[in-house]
Amino acid sequence: MKIGILSAGGDCPGINATIRGVGKAALTYGMEVIGVLDGYSGLIFNDYITLDERHLSGILTLGGTILGTSREKPFKKKEGDPIANKPQMIRQNCEKMGIDCLVCIGGNGTQKTASQLSEMGINVVGIPKTIDNDVWGTDITFGFDTAVNIATEAIDRLHSTANSHKRVMVIELMGHHAGWITLYAGVAGGGDVILIPEQDYDLDKVNEVLLDRMHRGKPYSIVVVAEGIKTGKKEDIPAGAYIAEQIENGTKIETRVTVPGYTLRGGSPSPFDRILATRMGTYAASLIHKRDYGKMVAIHNNDMKAIPLKDVGGKTRLVPHDHFLIKKAKRIGTSFG
Ligand code: F6P
Repeated sequence: MKIGILSAGGDCPGINATIRGVGKAALTYGMEVIGVLDGYSGLIFNDYITLDERHLSGILTLGGTILGTSREKPFKKKEGDPIANKPQMIRQNCEKMGIDCLVCIGGNGTQKTASQLSEMGINVVGIPKTIDNDVWGTDITFGFDTAVNIATEAIDRLHSTANSHKRVMVIELMGHHAGWITLYAGVAGGGDVILIPEQDYDLDKVNEVLLDRMHRGKPYSIVVVAEGIKTGKKEDIPAGAYIAEQIENGTKIETRVTVPGYTLRGGSPSPFDRILATRMGTYAASLIHKRDYGKMVAIHNNDMKAIPLKDVGGKTRLVPHDHFLIKKAKRIGTSFG
């Protein structure tokens, strides 16, 4: 058997650990392994490398993806695109490469494409990945724990400088439309106000909370903001900058904004993510060994599962309104605006 592994969409820590997990397990099953380069682009342009023991060694701790990635969506028709039928080209190239099963490592968009390829009759197994933790059907994705660690350290470091200057510190965190990173890092870093896209907020209330803290003798405050929160008419302004401006205008407290941005996605995966990636990768290889295709690897209550790819595509896993961490944070006085 020959398998092809690809990584698509935004990168995250743990992709290489996953490639290693799938690849090494596949080799032990006697499969041949190739790495398709730059996500779905590699399938369109027939761009790939052979992955043997040598390539799969020494990559467990490496950030990014040794295969490269892209946001190519072969089923999305773009005006003026010189390539007429990308899905057809993918089918032909999979045959040329001799791929018996494709392993697609990626987030919601990647899994949707994987599902569409599966509907065309191509054997596919999906593995969810994203720092945002928003892939439908799995409790957790690798990359998330690392991102929360980096974001928490950033928040930790804001406390002392905020205290020295008696400022409000706003920190904007990635997460696309989901607030998972902001909620977890916000709670872990002791944020005083946490704003996530899933919860409506009222700026007057945020300012009230901050002024009240000042009146109670708290010299500074930390406001943790998800990049995806609604900012009314000011959609062109990044969420963190918008909130900081509104706070400074409304409270007259000196306010600063920090955006760690892509640092959340870069560098080595945490031990938790290395383990999760290894579990997911080896599980994917075992599915292929059983010829159990058209599935995405998922984790439910710490158990590995295979769920139908067609159930995943086009959905986003958001923070539920009654999430236990929101309730706990409110109990200790954290405001959600
Ligand atoms: O999906 C992961 C993510 O990091 C989001 O949190 C962020 O909005 C997005 O990717 C930015 O990605 P890029 O600039 O690479 O398209």
